[in-house]
Amino acid sequence: MEKLRLVLYGVGAIGSRIAEFLLEKEGVEIVGTIDVAREKVGKDLGDVLALGRRLGVAVSDDPDAVFSKVKADVVVHTTTSFLKQAYPQIAKVVEHGVNVVSTCEELSYPLDLELAKKLNALAEKHGVTVLGTGINPGFLMDTLIIAFTGVCQKVEAIKMVRVINAAKRRASFQKKIGVGLTVDEFNKKIEKKVITAHVGLEQSISMTASALGWKLDKIEVETKAVEAKSGQVAGLKQLARGIRRGKETITLNLQAYVGAEEEYDAITIEGVPSIHGKISPGVHGDLATVAIVVNSIPKVINAEPGLVTMKDLPVPSAALEDMRTYVKK
Ligand SMILES: NC(=O)c1ccc[n+]([C@@H]2O[C@H](COP(=O)([O-])OP(=O)(O)OC[C@H]3O[C@@H](n4cnc5c(N)ncnc54)[C@H](OP(=O)(O)O)[C@@H]3O)[C@@H](O)[C@H]2O)c1
Repeated sequence: MEKLRLVLYGVGAIGSRIAEFLLEKEGVEIVGTIDVAREKVGKDLGDVLALGRRLGVAVSDDPDAVFSKVKADVVVHTTTSFLKQAYPQIAKVVEHGVNVVSTCEELSYPLDLELAKKLNALAEKHGVTVLGTGINPGFLMDTLIIAFTGVCQKVEAIKMVRVINAAKRRASFQKKIGVGLTVDEFNKKIEKKVITAHVGLEQSISMTASALGWKLDKIEVETKAVEAKSGQVAGLKQLARGIRRGKETITLNLQAYVGAEEEYDAITIEGVPSIHGKISPGVHGDLATVAIVVNSIPKVINAEPGLVTMKDLPVPSAALEDMRTYVKK
């Protein structure tokens, strides 16, 4: 079997790390790279990654040109958090008959049902599969919780807390949680959506509720700045609540700020049996996102055509060997 042929759509912070990880792996080759960043377009991917060697793949800002030149099995898409922006990019890839694994948070469990239906129909028509995944959304606050409930007879309430020291995270992450702003600037930028905060809490709650067959009354998300002693914003705290039959049933508590002393991920299921699990220190978001994206590639290639979510795919697992080992078709 030939190596899996992969196109990177987005070579920012995460796309670059995915590229570096892929270069270490057997059975897969990067055959194309798409990005619009002016300083990257036209450059060899090896130069963009500062590898000190050429890879013979130039960054292009023209997806049609890339897909008319190369036949790819899968695209790793890492350009945006928002489905409306991702949709035309992913639709184009799908129309070229290529599977997609994306870090677009809103794609992890699309709440825009019209776009989701359109994308699903397009993917089915072209015989390819589209998945949105990542550490969160994609794993910690949804897939892992859902897996925990697999050993429960009853589930009354779910609580998850994730605490991240943002000092250890990439610049684009620090930017979206407002590090360095004043509280006033933070509030204005959040309100005007100039900074996004963490995107995906509603998607995680919705995916979990759907897996459990729960219909929620509503989901509420609250975002507050965390102020450092200097008066600057160190990051944020976000609380998302899924309300069912008038009762807070799924609570996701995300805290990401510079100086967070204890990093951890803790899941509590109140039910029969009740379960409490704490991952300490918490899972490193960037390393884990790179991993889950790459590990999901064979599962997406093996899946039935359409738009899928993490709860529709087999249990997540590492693809440690030659990537072709895991591909069934
Ligand atoms: N689900 C998860 O757990 C998870 C984890 C990590 C990241 N993410 C998400 O994944 C996305 C990527 O993260 P990142 O840190 O790598 O962001 P980033 O550093 O901003 O990289 C995005 C790259 O895509 C390029 N781009 C933007 N629009 C494009 C378009 N229409 N066509 C081609 N390229 C385009 C950007 O160029 P410009 O700089 O010129 O705009 C940039 O080079 C973010 O939305 C992030 O929130 C999700």
